Amino acid sequence: MTAKKILLDCDPGLDDALAILLAHGDHALELIAITTVGGNVDLANTTRNALQLREYLGLEHIPVAAGAAAPLVRPAISAAEVHGDEGLGNVVLPAARLEASVTPAVDLIVETLRASPGEIHLVATGPLTNIALALHQDPAIIDLVASFTIMGGSFTRGNATPAAEFNILADPEAAAVVFAAGWQTVMVGLDLTNQAIATHEIVERMALLGRLGNDLVVPLSTFWKDDPTGQAVHDVVAVAFVARPDLFQSRLAHVEVETTGTFTSGMTVVDFDAAVPNAIVPVALDVEGFWDYVLESYARIRL
Ligand code: RIB
Ligand code: CA
Repeated sequence: MTAKKILLDCDPGLDDALAILLAHGDHALELIAITTVGGNVDLANTTRNALQLREYLGLEHIPVAAGAAAPLVRPAISAAEVHGDEGLGNVVLPAARLEASVTPAVDLIVETLRASPGEIHLVATGPLTNIALALHQDPAIIDLVASFTIMGGSFTRGNATPAAEFNILADPEAAAVVFAAGWQTVMVGLDLTNQAIATHEIVERMALLGRLGNDLVVPLSTFWKDDPTGQAVHDVVAVAFVARPDLFQSRLAHVEVETTGTFTSGMTVVDFDAAVPNAIVPVALDVEGFWDYVLESYARIRL
């Protein structure tokens, strides 16, 4: 069976980095491009992190293109308190030799989708600014993707505010454009990703991954110290959905994004009873199966 091609738009970011590892480790996936956006940390840091990860993994053939440094209309917010000032916690990788692509991220997204209609699984694990700009540049991309999956939102509570998840709160106007574009967005939200916790038992299994475990997987998965149960690997779940939808139970829904609420801005308002759905919303995760899949995929990575 041919591998599923993934274009990953991300803001690495601890869990974005773990998602890149999964897209690389699972041989049923082929990571074909990485685009970066300002989010967890600023664009210079998210792009540098993507470039360093690319070379650490020997993926120099994959383009890395930098995108939006700021949201569509709002000032940028950050999650540096969660991911560390440079975005990868305590992980220090060798400086990248190669620069980012001269092609801007939005152009790379549009051109890649146009060149391979129906073949590319577009995944976004950061603020949706690049995706909204790509839709503005070419609205027809909604018919060119094989699928479109985000880590973002929630059908219960947020994490950046009681109502809003970070990626959506970072650029609610972009998220509103994305959900209203006419395609079906797979919304992998906090309700699912908060089940994907790197518990002590999981970290012990990660430590068996040799140099990859010691250099990357364990430190990326254990940087957050404020949650005694462990760190949620949010973005990994979005990539896992593309590869292994069998690990999930999903429902159709209509999702709107609040952009004007005083206390609710960035909230994803999820209507599971809507007559006209615009989203597939995973509502249950086989947690044991998820970790078996992720760790088996990581074990295939050769450095
Ligand atoms: O709310 C979790 C999301 O925000 C993840 O994508 C994490 O990387 C941060 O960007
Ligand atoms: Ca992210």
